[in-house]
Order: sequence, then C-alpha cells, then structure tokens
Amino acid sequence: MYRTHHNGELRVLNSGDKVTLCGWVQRSRDLGGMTFIDLRDRFGITQLTFNMEEDASLCEIARKLGREFVIQAQGLVVERSNKNHNIPTGEIEIKVSKLTVLNESKTPPFTIEDETDGGDELRAQYRYLDIRRSPILEKLQLRNKIALETRKYLDSLNFLDVETPVLIKSTPEGARDFVVPSRMNPGEWYALPQSPQTFKQLLMVSGIDKYYQIVKCFRDEDLRADRQPEFTQIDCEMSFVEQEDILQTFEGLIKHLFLSVKGIELKDNFPRITYEEAMEKYGSDKPDLRFGMEFVDLTALTKGKGFSVFDNAQTIIAINAEQAALYTRKQIDALTDWVKRPQIGATGLVYLRCNEDGTFKSSVDKFYTEEELSKWAEKANAKKGDLLLLLCGETNKVRKQMNELRLHMGNELGLRNPNIFKPLWVVDFPLLEWDEENQRFHAMHHPFTSPKPEDLELLNTNPIQVRANAYDLAVNGVELGGGSIRIHDRKLQEKMFQLLGFSKEEAQAQFGFLMDAFEYGAPPHGGLAFGLDRIASTFGGTDSIRDFIAFPKNNKGRDVMIDAPSVIHFNQLDELGIQLKTKES
Ligand code: AMO
Repeated sequence: MYRTHHNGELRVLNSGDKVTLCGWVQRSRDLGGMTFIDLRDRFGITQLTFNMEEDASLCEIARKLGREFVIQAQGLVVERSNKNHNIPTGEIEIKVSKLTVLNESKTPPFTIEDETDGGDELRAQYRYLDIRRSPILEKLQLRNKIALETRKYLDSLNFLDVETPVLIKSTPEGARDFVVPSRMNPGEWYALPQSPQTFKQLLMVSGIDKYYQIVKCFRDEDLRADRQPEFTQIDCEMSFVEQEDILQTFEGLIKHLFLSVKGIELKDNFPRITYEEAMEKYGSDKPDLRFGMEFVDLTALTKGKGFSVFDNAQTIIAINAEQAALYTRKQIDALTDWVKRPQIGATGLVYLRCNEDGTFKSSVDKFYTEEELSKWAEKANAKKGDLLLLLCGETNKVRKQMNELRLHMGNELGLRNPNIFKPLWVVDFPLLEWDEENQRFHAMHHPFTSPKPEDLELLNTNPIQVRANAYDLAVNGVELGGGSIRIHDRKLQEKMFQLLGFSKEEAQAQFGFLMDAFEYGAPPHGGLAFGLDRIASTFGGTDSIRDFIAFPKNNKGRDVMIDAPSVIHFNQLDELGIQLKTKES
C-alpha cells in the first residue's frame, strides 16, 4: 500500500498513529538541526519533519529533495507545538522515519503556488502543472460538483441520460461545423455536433420522454472569454410540455445548483421579460440585472430643437448613471473616447449633469432651454446630483452601444459584484432574423423552433414579426442557457425550411430523417441546453470559462500543450483521398 492517508486528512486525534503519506514536495525549509517539508496532494498539505540529531542520514536525503519531487514518507503523527491555524492539518506534523523518493522532478517552469510567476502561455503549455495549483484545482472541483448535482436533480425527476453520436451529419445551428473525413466513404464527411439537437428530438419520437446528457459540443466560431470551440452542454429535452413546464423544471435545476453548490437560496421566481423589452430597456438579450441604469428613450424630447446630430438620429437614449455624479469633465471626456473606439462605434457622447442647486449643465445646452433639459431629467427619474449619459443613432445600433456603455459604467462604479447573482428568463424571441447582406432569413434560435401558435398566420404575411416559443436564461449578463418548444409537425417544419431559403429537395436531403420521423407519431416536445462551462465560471465569479476546462484551447483555437491542430502525414491524407490546395490555387 502506497499510503494510509491523504495529505488533508490527519488531525490531533491521530497523534501517535504510524502513517504513510505520498505526494509532491511543495516547499522545504532547512533550519540547521531541523528540516521541514510541506507535502502536497489534491487533498491538502501535511508538514513532515526531519531531525538532524535523531537521524542525520535521513535528514540529509530530505535536504536534497527539490520542489515537486514525488515522495513517500512513513512516520509518527505528533501534535505541533507551533500550530498553523491556516490549514486543516496545521495542528500536527509527521516525524518521518522512512523516506522514499518515488520520482524526481525537474525545476518546474513556474512556481506551483496560488500566486504563480508563470504567464498564461507558459502555464497553458504546462497545463498539467498548472492544474496542481489550488486556484485551478478548485475550479475543476466546482465544475465537478455542478455536474454531479445536475445529475442528482435530473435523475430525481426521471430524466434519462442517453448518449448521442459525435460523428454526425452537418446541421445548421448558426456556427460553422468541424468536419471529419470518412476513409470508408471517400469524398464524404461527418460533422461534429454543434449540439445534439436533432438527436434529442428523435429521442422524443422514440418515447424517451425526459432526456438529458452532459455532452461535448463543437463549434468553429470566433472565440471569446465565454466561448470555446469545444464546450460542454447540459442538454435536456421533454415530451408533452409547454414552455411553462420547461421554465419551471429548469428554474428548479438552477435553484438547486445555487443552493447545493454555492449555498445560496434563490427564493423568488426568476423575473421574466420579453426579448423586445430586454432590447428596449438594456439593448441586450442577456441583461445584467445587478444594477439599474435602464434605458430611457429621449427621442421625442430631444428632436427638433436645432441640434442636428439628434435631429438626424433615429433614436436618442439616455441612462441615468447616478453614482457617476462626481465624474469630472476629464472623466466624461475619457468616456467619450471610450464610446468612440471602433469596438463600440458611437459618434459621440452627450451628458446632462443635474446640479445640486437645481440647474443643469449639458454638453449641448446651447440648443436646449433649462425647461427642456429638466424634462429629460424628469423622464429619466434623475435627482439633483445625477448624471445622464446620452447616445444617438440607428435604433438597433445605438441600443447595442448603450448596452456596452451601461456595462462599462457598471464596472467602473463597482456595481457588478461577483458574489451577487441575478437570474432572469428572456422569453418570446423572434422566430427569424433578417440577414441584410445575404438578403435572407436566419432562424434566431434554430430551425426546429416552433412559432407561437397565435403568430402562425404572420408566417405568410409578415414573417419577421413572428415570435417563437423560445427562451434564454441569463445570469449577471451571461447567457447560461437557451431553448425552445419545437415544431413536431412535418408540414410546419417544411414551411420553416422554405422560409429559410431551402428548396424542398435540399430540406429533404439535409433533414429528411427528422421530418420523416415526425410522420410516425412525434409527441409535442421542447427543451433547452445550459452551458456547463459558463455555469461554472459564473459560479466562480469570473468571465472566462477557460480555467474551468481542464485542457482548454487558446483564442486561436490551439492546444499549445499537445500542439494541436497540426499537419498530418501525407499518407493519412492519401488514405482519406484528400489533396490539399496549395496557397496559390
Ligand atoms: P445554444 O446554441 O443557445 O442552444 O447553446 C446553449 C448554451 O450553450 C452554451 N454555449 C457555449 N459555451 C461555450 N462556448 C461556446 N462556443 C458556446 N456556445 C453555446 C451557452 C448557451 O446558452 N440545441 C440548442 C439548445 C436547445 O434548443 O435545446 C443549443 O445548442 O451557455
């Protein structure tokens, strides 16, 4: 037996026990007569002691151990005279009588400490060493707990965990597919699933009734802090349900996760707002509700007074950044530069300061009377001392820009506390969005989403107005999950593909398998999927999902540790019948 205990386990009660421990040398301190070693494993740290007077040769071996050597130590548990109350094992130490070096270690390229000296790239290259550090380990443990509690909750509701294939047929879900050539079917390709969407629907046709899977999904899209090319969904589907059943079931899951993983009881029902309202009030379909600053439409109050920028704009929106009242002119100029950056793209920023003495100061006050400015303030519920920030432009664009400014102000004013959690459902998404460039409709969620029955008529007359039975769950400005009630009728599904610009033949070739299945008694069904990585990072209080994934890709989609993607041998290409284009061709 390699060990009797792990390194987070021993307490004063174990004093006098003879134990064997294994682990990595975290640190060693040589104090002349005594040598101390912190022995680390996943569970904690235990102090080992070596006494020169009692066993000089053993002490000599201990002194030579380097950082990250793997050792086995046998000895007696003794109560420490000098206790360390910062760690659970801090009341004892092991008086070592036998020491075995199980493996030596080169000096690690960065220190394996909570605060390390290694940069991102270096740590990614040696990710297996980075995972030895507690901050990363704790994130993986958090993720594990979320997955475990998800399974417990869904199992208690009779959900069945069913695996679906990874080599599938390309399905349009918004992103590009990763594709895999088939050696046995030359010239033909599998696609890796962007999600198991069609399979979970087929499982409903199969009568599985309640399905879930914690499953890898693959999307070839531009990466951001909350996007990885391979990520994990908690993917769910239910039969004989309406939207309300889904929202309640999965609100239950999220509440269960908050309570069991974070110890936070979310008592109230999650607020629900429509997509339209979300865009009007926050310019985002995943608003951060930890703070106010809702949009105020000042179009009617600002136009027609001779200020041409506003007169020529479609929409003028303000936010009341009340806590920013003390912003100096210089700080407001800096904000103006910030919104003018290409990433935001605003043409400028107008402010209105509501002075303590009841007067107003604005960057455009030569065009407006005090009376007119006071109307702006009134509409925005501004008190004396508040600061209004205004942007103008084409409605959808200005909403997006104001969303960015609102989040920026939230950050600047410290209103986005990572320990406060504000979930909400966004419902009634539009079924379709118009792609101006390609002059065609796209499905806003995916093509299998059902229109609201009351909007069905509009499909023929004004498709862009059709609302879908689709919903997202957002927490603190992050989309944690989304789903919809599905079409389960062949005719309606055909109509949807037609709207999306598929010919009858194309639709049959790509999705015949699903539409054919609908002809064999498909039950009404719906579902959703949560991003497990995003739940983990939100629970962990950070924006980036990368640290919650054991072996993530960098923002170029590379795994720098194993050096993937990489070129393959021409024999492999030959076998697959693939010839690479040269750069020129
Ligand atoms: P959707 O595309 O909205 O829906 O994805 C569901 C959830 O998956 C997470 N997610 C991601 N996480 C990390 N990196 C990515 N690249 C990434 N893309 C998505 C998000 C998102 O909310 N089949 C439908 C679900 C359904 O209709 O049931 C789907 O995949 O948290």
